[in-house]
Amino acid sequence: MSFRRADWDADAYHRISGPQFAWGQRVLARLELRGDEVVLDAGCGTGRLTSLLAPRVPAGRVIAIDRSAAMTRSARTLLPDEVGVVQADLLALPFRGAFDVLFSTATFHWVLEPAGLHRQLLAVLKPGGRLHAQCGGAGNLARLHARMHVLMADARYADRYVDWREPWCFASPEGTTASLAAAGFTDIHCNLQDAPTPFADEAAYREFIDRVVLADYFTRVGAKEREEMLDVLCDAAATDDAPYTLDYVRLNMTATRPA
Ligand SMILES: C[S@@+](CC[C@H](N)C(=O)[O-])C[C@H]1O[C@@H](n2cnc3c(N)ncnc32)[C@H](O)[C@@H]1O
Repeated sequence: MSFRRADWDADAYHRISGPQFAWGQRVLARLELRGDEVVLDAGCGTGRLTSLLAPRVPAGRVIAIDRSAAMTRSARTLLPDEVGVVQADLLALPFRGAFDVLFSTATFHWVLEPAGLHRQLLAVLKPGGRLHAQCGGAGNLARLHARMHVLMADARYADRYVDWREPWCFASPEGTTASLAAAGFTDIHCNLQDAPTPFADEAAYREFIDRVVLADYFTRVGAKEREEMLDVLCDAAATDDAPYTLDYVRLNMTATRPA
């Protein structure tokens, strides 16, 4: 049985991905660009951040890739024609030595083979090219996941989750540094950053964990059970010190392909 949703709900993600958009804008603000670079946005989603990246390279080019058919359709609609949008998997990128900069946000933790991912990232960069990215890091959403795992072990639902494997991996800065170095990167800098994310009320929190964070988990249960589980998770979140707050942790990384 699959550990993944069939595809992303691109319209819902575009509407409610305020947290990812806010983090991404900060990552983009730290990216130094001359304006003539060829840049890859790896895991572009609906292209919200790509649309801010493209004007930063007026004399260059941006290509946006994503594995999801729904996300790439949405990005194609949003982005100007000058931005190339390609449906592709990060573990099998159809480029070699093509990019000055590889930008990515909120994506790498979805790729369960970090060593293969890091080799691909190196291979698509030009010599001297730079990786500038952020994704979920060690400890990301630990409180929510612990609560979800208690529910998954509950006698009412446990049979659906006997062969469950997490759809993501939240790596440490140390492990990521070692893996990037093994792939051939130099000048590597990785660090974790707490990003606690409050939601306005139960409805906003509920929709976000349902559509974005836990959508893969809920593919295993019917609508009634899904609502029961969401009730339990929302009740627990209501009693947290900061109610309806997700305990996000981000992993920042920069690295260079040797010239
Ligand atoms: C949370 S969204 C992030 C989108 C955007 N970068 C943002 O910050 O809002 C994660 C994206 O990664 C894409 N993705 C996950 N695994 C991928 C893979 N192996 N190859 C390409 N894209 C992938 C998903 O389809 C999804 O669009």
